[in-house]
Amino acid sequence: MKYTALTFEVPELVGISLETIELHLGLYAGYVKHVNLIHDKIAAYSHDLEANTYAIAEMQRRLGFEFGGMRNHEYYFAQFEGGATALPAGTLQEKIENQFGSITAWQTRFTQIAMTRGVGWAMLYHDPHTDQLVQTWVDEQHLGQLADLDIVLALDMWEHSYMRDYLPAAKVDYVKAFFANLNWEVVSERLV
Ligand SMILES: [Fe+2]
Repeated sequence: MKYTALTFEVPELVGISLETIELHLGLYAGYVKHVNLIHDKIAAYSHDLEANTYAIAEMQRRLGFEFGGMRNHEYYFAQFEGGATALPAGTLQEKIENQFGSITAWQTRFTQIAMTRGVGWAMLYHDPHTDQLVQTWVDEQHLGQLADLDIVLALDMWEHSYMRDYLPAAKVDYVKAFFANLNWEVVSERLV
């Protein structure tokens, strides 16, 4: 089982430097590498399951972190490809307005989630079981990730996402920059 790091055509962004994006893409590649490493190590240790029970269990425990770090970043970087666009009229807009009252009200609420203390992600999902939007905070890369929901919008709130460009006390400005650079068409298509 092998995963390959994807490539992303991230255009020049407003308020998020090229250096930040390059560093961040390198971190993403590290997650892909470690997902593969864990799978390789588990296979290598599996010749003696009894002797290696704890080693394998700890690697399995670690997989959620590395896998989340891989997949979350793939959603994150893809959202910038093609450059910023306005939120297109359609299913996502309708759902946001129905559930949160307005785009502005939703964005305020989502920003509040992003301001959660700690490192992790603000996530907007679509629940295919109920056809509703659900949003939450995910600690690190995986803790609190909601099962069997489709990621619609993924906002990385680890400090590596913004510390080169913003002071910690100004991380809300990074969130504003994130929204200003979003390709909403990419995001909206995830709902279809
Ligand atoms: Fe990140």
